[in-house]
Amino acid sequence: MIPDVDNDSLVYLNGEYVRLGDAKVSVLDRGFIFGDGIYEVVPAYGRKPFRMDSHLARLERSLKAIGIKLDMSRADWEKLVRDMLVRASSDDAMVYIQVTRGVAKRDHAFPAKAPKPTVFCMVSPFKRPAAAAREQGLSTVSMPDVRWLHCEIKSVSLLGNVLAKQHAVEAGVDEVIQFRDGFLSEGSSCNIWVVKNGTVLGPVRDNLILEGIRYGFIEELARAAGVPFESRRISREEVEQADELMLTSATKEVLPIVSLDGKPVGNGKPGPVYARLRAGYDKAIAAL
Ligand SMILES: Cc1ncc(COP(=O)(O)O)c(C=O)c1O
Repeated sequence: MIPDVDNDSLVYLNGEYVRLGDAKVSVLDRGFIFGDGIYEVVPAYGRKPFRMDSHLARLERSLKAIGIKLDMSRADWEKLVRDMLVRASSDDAMVYIQVTRGVAKRDHAFPAKAPKPTVFCMVSPFKRPAAAAREQGLSTVSMPDVRWLHCEIKSVSLLGNVLAKQHAVEAGVDEVIQFRDGFLSEGSSCNIWVVKNGTVLGPVRDNLILEGIRYGFIEELARAAGVPFESRRISREEVEQADELMLTSATKEVLPIVSLDGKPVGNGKPGPVYARLRAGYDKAIAAL
């Protein structure tokens, strides 16, 4: 039994619903041996999935990117997410989906005969960001981005992200901001946004970042609020001299960043552009 885990909650494993405490995967699963798999996290409010289409489209892109073929249609994935939400112990929940290449003799190359992919899904309570984080903002430190060059794949090979988040914990801050060759990439598990002279800037959606589902959403919210939006390479100096910084992810939604490397961002308080995007985000949740 694992402490702090609800072993009685039901999870989905390879076509069956089983107790989390009874769900077992082979030690030869390539997800365990090589990190050879992908995942997705779909947030839900009041048991209604949020931006599910985009999440499932990204799941399909990730599977395609690493050559895992599965007999699951979009409708099957949707049904799985909705079935998990019925089983959730709380109305606001996170649906976690993981697919690995499956179980095979340990050998780096893909097995000649493709094994049956392992499909796992669980649902956990989603504690929305606390008022303190929303109103007072988050602290960050910068660090070099030493991850691989396929950050656009939502891979379960997350060691680089794990070490980045641990760096934040050990520095006593909330999150890291990673830079590659002097340009902004992203946080340990979130996208980072810069506001300068009223414009929202996001890094280019290339192989150096995971394009969050909130990426397109922030773009929509900015446009709806009449805030100019630009996607381009953003230098370290621009981040350091930002009027506002923000981060987004399924679990953090959108939150303001008020310090970087011990220095205040702008006036050190959550800014007006954040307030407008946050209002738009809350409105979209309320309209679900
Ligand atoms: C590395 C990384 N970047 C960005 C994001 C944000 O993505 P999303 O908005 O889909 O949660 C995540 C989310 O887990 C992430 O792990």
